[in-house]
Amino acid sequence: MAGGIGSRFWPMSTQKFPKQFQDILGTGRTMIQQTFDRIKQIVPTENIYVITNQEYVELSHHQLPEIPLENIVGEPVMKNTAACNIYMVNKIADRDPDANVIVVPADHLIIKEKTFLEKVELAFDLASKHDYLITLGITPTRPDTGYGYIQFIEKKEEEFFKVKTFTEKPSLEIAKAFLESGDFLWNAGIFVWNVKSIHKAFQEFLPEMTHEFDTCEYNNDKESVCIETIYPKVEKISIDNGILEKAKNVYVIPADLGWSDLGTWTSVYENAEKDDNNNAVKSKHVLTYNSKGNIIRLRNNNKAAIIDGLENYIVVDTEKALLICPISNDQLIKDYVLDLKNFK
Ligand code: GDD
Ligand code: MG
Repeated sequence: MAGGIGSRFWPMSTQKFPKQFQDILGTGRTMIQQTFDRIKQIVPTENIYVITNQEYVELSHHQLPEIPLENIVGEPVMKNTAACNIYMVNKIADRDPDANVIVVPADHLIIKEKTFLEKVELAFDLASKHDYLITLGITPTRPDTGYGYIQFIEKKEEEFFKVKTFTEKPSLEIAKAFLESGDFLWNAGIFVWNVKSIHKAFQEFLPEMTHEFDTCEYNNDKESVCIETIYPKVEKISIDNGILEKAKNVYVIPADLGWSDLGTWTSVYENAEKDDNNNAVKSKHVLTYNSKGNIIRLRNNNKAAIIDGLENYIVVDTEKALLICPISNDQLIKDYVLDLKNFK
């Protein structure tokens, strides 16, 4: 899934150039390229699909020339992740009605790749034998309101658990309670299922949307015309809110992956190198005094900056924009960007 615009990560991520197409950590590979490198170890390249906005099909193809162009699918409208999932499920099921699918966001950091591959293998095994919707779960480290929280029914000596409750993006108060209870995992946003299981769940919980997608023919000339017609009509909802919060057959595999959704400035701060005062500053021309716990990013590394008396702030300067915002408000950047929508 590579169709988001990463608005919580503004102004580094913009509509023209969203974060999944950027080399955020300076590794030499963009986020989507790193995701491809990881996934191609378990899925043959001809079976890897990218689903993104039409606007980013060319960019995806340019960054991932190994993937067949017909597997890079462009959506006409952004409808969040439920629509893109049922679209891909139908398209893949048309090719192989028994396929098991792994769904991954294009913008995650996973340090422990070997563990990731082991857990995915287990998930594929479960999905091929049972009618399960499987997600990977991460031990939470902070009351982040940007994630889904999973409570599970524990049975000893199992590597996977039945999900009791799934709460997408709780309030801060509830997130704090979840964290303190120690009973919850973060939803990593990485899903494994058989096309039949997930299609059944869509029929049950998003029947209208599913019906629209079921009217289309896939993998022929008619596909794009049909998709163009139905997309504006379907509900804009995430797969987490639309399916996972409601389904009774969700299972979680806890996984210590060295995982981060590099979706917010907090997550980038957590993964960044910091100086003695816990400031994450990349450029040697940025001088800080009496300041701590800040993340400071200037796109122009030759620009000088002096910062005095600042604590726990995000300061990001690009050619076109400047952001100064308390780190604790990083989830609100998404809303602030909406207020800016008339700015080109
Ligand atoms: N094709 C397509 N179309 N992709 C989309 C769309 C869309 O309309 N909207 C978002 N995406 C892509 C994003 O680019 C990202 O790779 C992925 O789908 C997930 O979307 P996000 O917008 O990043 O979701 P989130 O981070 O708020 O929440 C999800 O991930 C969290 C973990 O990172 C949920 O699954 C949470 O429960 C989870 O904790
Ligand atoms: Mg995300």
